[in-house]
Amino acid sequence: MSYYTLITGANGEFGHGLISKLYAQGTKIITLDLNDLDPTLVPMVEKAYRLDLMGKEGVDEIFENYDFDQIYHLAALLSTSSERIPAKACNINVMGTVGVLDRAVKQAEKNHIRVKVMFCSTIAVYGLPNLEVKAANPFVSEDQFVTPTTMYGCNKLACEHLGSYYTFNYMQLKDDPRKRDYGLDFRCIRFPGVISAFTLPTGGTSDYAPEMIHAAAKGEKYNCFVRESAKIPFITMPEAIDALMTLSQAPAEKLTRRVYNIGGFAATAGEIYALVRESFPNAPETTFNPDVARQGIVDTWPEDVNDEAARRDWGYKPTHTLRSAFTEYLLPNIKAFYANKK
Ligand code: SER
Repeated sequence: MSYYTLITGANGEFGHGLISKLYAQGTKIITLDLNDLDPTLVPMVEKAYRLDLMGKEGVDEIFENYDFDQIYHLAALLSTSSERIPAKACNINVMGTVGVLDRAVKQAEKNHIRVKVMFCSTIAVYGLPNLEVKAANPFVSEDQFVTPTTMYGCNKLACEHLGSYYTFNYMQLKDDPRKRDYGLDFRCIRFPGVISAFTLPTGGTSDYAPEMIHAAAKGEKYNCFVRESAKIPFITMPEAIDALMTLSQAPAEKLTRRVYNIGGFAATAGEIYALVRESFPNAPETTFNPDVARQGIVDTWPEDVNDEAARRDWGYKPTHTLRSAFTEYLLPNIKAFYANKK
């Protein structure tokens, strides 16, 4: 049988880059999103479903019509949005994920295959108690400070555990008497803030970095909602997508965990702004007016992460420093992108 790849939340930032890369590899793609799929992506997919992940019948129909061996579960509400509508966020972020995991397990059992579920988690699962502890722990590893302070962080941490639960309960591991070689194979990356040259996030808290860069590229003024000293890790979108695809292709026996940190380049908002000034000298000056709630969230996220496990198990290596992210990826692409829009 030839299997399909399902992408949920496909019209979001990750989906845009991921669809073209998977398509280039010859993957047969089915997408699901609340909104219409970007028309430029439509020719790359077999079928684009516009529906609500929480609407049972529609999603059941997708799993009845297609057999999947891989699912990229990207649909979620980001951190700032989730604080505004916490119960709804929990429903979408957690119960939406349970629905995907449960259906994936059923298909794996029906077809006697491993169904990989690739999941995007986040540095929001961390909850550093204060700035002193944050400064004293510059490289946080997967099992430290997993005490999230946001609904989004709680949701993503819960999903990490649920993905592991479904894997261990339905695809038993070696030395387990119930061992068998089919079931769910959940794999997850905890991403830093992600910056794309082509799209902007909606409702996240690390959004100040991409927003500041895109505003300058458009010659618009930006009012940054965190202080200049706010520091978290970031990664470029192509690196993020490559990492997700590399983890998906890694041999199962090499993986010592289900959930991996990856770092990119750690930077303060001020350091990012210095490069924005250098790159777009004619853009209006950015002002820094910290928003208490959003600054409070960033203060609980680590300055950087320890990603030794990802480097060891599946060869993760970031491509960019902050400067090379600007000079090699962001600037050439963002300038061309807005020049084409004129
Ligand atoms: N970028 C996400 C957010 O800000 C965090 O992973 O919500």
